[in-house]
Order: sequence, then C-alpha cells, then structure tokens
Amino acid sequence: MEERAQDEARRRFLWAAASGLGAVGVCGMAVPFIKSMTPAADTEAAGIIEVDLSEVPPGELRVLPWRGRIVGILHRTPEMLKQIEGHDDKLKDPESRKNARVQAPWMKTREQRIYRSMRPEFFIADIVCTHLGCIPVFKPTPGQKDWGDTVPKWWPGGWHCPCHGSYFDLAGRVFKGSPAPDNLYMVPHRYVSDTRVVIGETEEG
Ligand code: FES
Repeated sequence: MEERAQDEARRRFLWAAASGLGAVGVCGMAVPFIKSMTPAADTEAAGIIEVDLSEVPPGELRVLPWRGRIVGILHRTPEMLKQIEGHDDKLKDPESRKNARVQAPWMKTREQRIYRSMRPEFFIADIVCTHLGCIPVFKPTPGQKDWGDTVPKWWPGGWHCPCHGSYFDLAGRVFKGSPAPDNLYMVPHRYVSDTRVVIGETEEG
C-alpha cells in the first residue's frame, strides 16, 4: 500500500517532468522547475546537478527532479525566516535530531538544526512528504485566508500535504498531529559560489 502510493506520486512527478511542462503541479499549484547548468549528461545521470540560485526570486520556490525525488529550493526572505520562529512546541522534531535523513553533516549549531540550511536564505530539501510520498502544497502565507482554507488559524507558513493532512513549516519541520513521521529530508549539496550550488555532493565528496 505504502509502496503503491509512493510509486503514484513519483509517476505524477516524472510525467510532468518528461512532458516538458516547465512546472510541476504541487497538488494544484504550479511550481516552476529550475534549469540545471550541469554540462555533462553522465554527471546529471549520476544525480550531480549544478543550479544557479539567482533564478530563484526572494519568497519563491523552484523544484527539480533528482534521483527519483523532488528537490525544492526556497529563497526565504527575512520575513519568512521570522515565520520559522516561535512554534517549536508544536513540532515533532524541532531541532532535527530524530534520524539521519532529516540531518546534514553541516548541521553543527542549534540555528542550523532549526533553519535547516547552510545559508538561512536558501532552504534546499527533498519536498516529498515523509508519510506516503505525496507532493505537499506550498503555502507560505501565514494565517487562514478564509473558512475554506486547508490550513489552521495559527498557520505560520510552510507546506500542507492534503493526502492525509501533514503540515511542515518553512524549514520543512513537521507539526505534531501530522501522519508524516519526519521533517522533510535533507539532500546533499555544496556551494561552489555565492549563487551556484551543486546538488548530490557534499564538501566531503
Ligand atoms: Fe500522507 Fe503526505 S502522503 S500526509
């Protein structure tokens, strides 16, 4: 059952990617792909991809396919960074200590464990839901828009997975009461300049 749901999510995403749509439907919301700058096809096939972060405007999310998963790159504004503060008591694993997939080798300080990024302004993670593999909806605006909104009144901004109702904040940390067991998983990456990042490798290789 679990495998079937994950296969279905993967199929939906790969279909969108292969169709050249230029965006993936994240449960009804079109999120643009970011283009890979990787010159060699074999490097890309091995899952080592270089991207230009200047293509991600402040406050926006871009996605790219990576090793059968979906990497999200969110350019967080100073306001978005504030939205991550003040709700640790509502989270299952506020400091990302639960298991290896929610952590990264560079997470040395408390801030890095909370913001879950090497550079606070860029959040780079696997944005497939850690429950059964759906693709959550990106809902960055705090609060509930109207009675029909799918997020609670206290919503600080983040991702909502409508498949079974999981919620993640703007650092991909999962809220208590969600069926998803873990924070969104980290992906290996390293910066090669101020605006370029390689996905699929760490500083250690
Ligand atoms: Fe079940 Fe996301 S797949 S809540």
